[in-house]
Amino acid sequence: MKITAEQRDELIRRALQARRHAYAPYSAYAVGAAVLADGGGIYAGANVENAAYPSGICAERSAVFNAIGQGERHILAVAVASENGGSPCGSCRQVLSEFGPQADVIIVDASGKIVAEQTVADLLPRAFGPDHLPKRS
Ligand code: THU
Repeated sequence: MKITAEQRDELIRRALQARRHAYAPYSAYAVGAAVLADGGGIYAGANVENAAYPSGICAERSAVFNAIGQGERHILAVAVASENGGSPCGSCRQVLSEFGPQADVIIVDASGKIVAEQTVADLLPRAFGPDHLPKRS
């Protein structure tokens, strides 16, 4: 385990809290996420939908972009909260992999019960990453 029990509990609490701010009038599927960066900071996000459906964003990417936009570069763990413990979508797995391939992914339902816990690499085996690109000088 890379994170403490206290960090896990706090991540879950923050993901559930962020879920309350989801903007999901079209799907009615509210999701909250909270990421733990390697400096110990926690950054939250929720899904934000749009009348032009593809313009919306998932909670996980919202949380990761929040962290990265505030100067973080490495993620140790992420908690994701939804009604029924839904799993991160493919695009979110890819974004999580960029900043934390070994990060713990803690998936909880609306009551905070842990439904699944695994690493990003478990969720996205043989991920495409920066090492696949040619070196730039
Ligand atoms: N959603 C997330 O926020 N995270 C996921 O990984 C899966 C789906 C959101 C997107 C959309 O607002 C709603 O859930 C239904 O797909």
